[in-house]
Amino acid sequence: MFSFRNLIIVLFLALAYAEPLKVRDTRGITQAELNQFELLAQYAGAAYCYDNIQNGTGNTVACTREGGYCPGVEALQTVILDSFFDVGITQTAGYVAIDRSHQLIIVSIQGTSIASNPIDALTDLNIARSKTTLCGKANTVDGCLIHDGFWQAANDVLPIVETTINISLAMNPDFKIVTTGHSLGAAIAALLGAKLRDDGHIVDMYTFGQPSVGAVDVSNYIENQAPAQGNNYRVTHYNDVVPQLPEHNLDWGTWDHYYPEFWISRQNGTVQASDMLVVTGRLYETGGNEGDKTGLGVVVDLIEGLPAHYVYFNPISGCDANAPAAVASSG
Ligand SMILES: *[C@@H]1O[C@H](CO)[C@@H](O)[C@H](O)[C@H]1NC(C)=O
Ligand SMILES: *[C@@H]1O[C@H](CO)[C@@H](O)[C@H](O)[C@H]1NC(C)=O
Ligand SMILES: *[C@@H]1O[C@H](CO)[C@@H](O)[C@H](O)[C@H]1NC(C)=O
Repeated sequence: MFSFRNLIIVLFLALAYAEPLKVRDTRGITQAELNQFELLAQYAGAAYCYDNIQNGTGNTVACTREGGYCPGVEALQTVILDSFFDVGITQTAGYVAIDRSHQLIIVSIQGTSIASNPIDALTDLNIARSKTTLCGKANTVDGCLIHDGFWQAANDVLPIVETTINISLAMNPDFKIVTTGHSLGAAIAALLGAKLRDDGHIVDMYTFGQPSVGAVDVSNYIENQAPAQGNNYRVTHYNDVVPQLPEHNLDWGTWDHYYPEFWISRQNGTVQASDMLVVTGRLYETGGNEGDKTGLGVVVDLIEGLPAHYVYFNPISGCDANAPAAVASSG
């Protein structure tokens, strides 16, 4: 059992490592921004539904049949331009779709199936990083270290996704490209978005419950791509544990996030624009989602913070929870 003395030591260590509050903007967001976040959260969740990612090309994006929640998207009759499944050694899945009402070309990536096996999926987060060339001249601190699995997955799907984007953009030159995803899919969507920007596209990235993708160089690089090459909307919810992973103290404390973070500050109930706080800051930010750690270590954070991971405005991974067992366990 956890003795009182140990608790004091843990608290002391937590305090010792806490850094002073960084620059932090606590304004809310506009109603229009909130509407956009709620829409993209539905597109992100729809990547868990097998109807959309397996043989889905030509269909409209749907979630209800598989137990997911995307009524706003279903009403729009968004056509899937390309669905992809089991791509590359990372077996990445997702879809590219066209939303004519909002003039968007949407790339949505499915993460490893977290609902079916959260502990396995989350321990996957601790695997190695490698130096990459993504950051170019911004490669000054750590060699642009990126999580191997996320980086491989983004590279696996890039040619497929970009071929579809280029064709549909040629026919719809005024449309905007967005990448999105939840959880591990969010991490892949962020790196994919950064690479599409490098190819000359302007891409807005909407990620929900995204873990850290790498070290400081990559955060600098993605921050500096905005706003000229597209905006970064990294949405977190309350004490969701996944954006707090991998822990900073793994690999010498250099796992980092790009900012701003759009933090849903309320745990339950209907999110209002004023409930979403824009958090700016860097490395070991003590506000927003990071500031909601228990200070009692990752195991306690995991127990406390997993429920919030599955709710981004509404349940986001309903299709994952209902995935056929054989499919879910392969993820
Ligand atoms: C669906 O896609 C899978 C692989 O993506 C393929 O093996 C299967 O034959 C397809 N099924 C149909 C009905 O097209
Ligand atoms: C898509 O278009 C971009 C920008 O024009 C270009 O850099 C890229 O090579 C193209 N990719 C594919 C797969 O067609
Ligand atoms: C909010 O949700 C958490 C779990 O997600 C639950 O334990 C808690 O009771 C809820 N609080 C309220 C006020 O509904």
